[in-house]
Amino acid sequence: MVIDAVFAFLHFFGIGCLVAVLAMQTALLSTTPTPIERLNRIDLGLGLSALLILGAGGARVAWGLKGIDYYWGNPVFWVKMALFFGAGLASVPPTLAFFAWRKELTAKARFQPPADQIKRVRLFIKLEWLLLALIPLAAVLMARDLP
Ligand code: HEM
Repeated sequence: MVIDAVFAFLHFFGIGCLVAVLAMQTALLSTTPTPIERLNRIDLGLGLSALLILGAGGARVAWGLKGIDYYWGNPVFWVKMALFFGAGLASVPPTLAFFAWRKELTAKARFQPPADQIKRVRLFIKLEWLLLALIPLAAVLMARDLP
């Protein structure tokens, strides 16, 4: 029971961190000049939060109160996993863009990303928000063996 509570706490802590860093990225992408170094640092925070969520979520599946079979046979669990990995995929183009911008910045101190690239990154971040918004819905249904 205590182990389950610890992993549940870590799961929610990771979710809180992820939402906070994604909100920071969203806000920083509309500031000028674009804070390239900060975006890269925050992106690392995004990755670490996702790892914490995955680790704690995986631990709840493996060692949680309901047992692994409860989740394995639950289609909503797999919908939740697909949404999570979809959000992970949507985060790849922004990460690659932040890396590329940092490289350009190292070569040219006054470098600023072109508007069309910022727009594209913002689009992927919007997609991340959309997928992330659907995950808690899948989570509450999954936890109650619904529909
Ligand atoms: C951003 C991604 C995620 C979000 C926002 C999220 C959200 C949630 C929420 C809100 C709950 C509580 C549901 C409830 O008790 O009503 C929950 C529970 C849970 N999550 Fe996640 N989750 C995410 C990713 C994951 C991943 C990747 C895994 C597995 C690898 C996972 C496994 C679980 C498990 C096993 C539970 C316990 C459900 C139960 O009580 O039966 N979650 N999640």
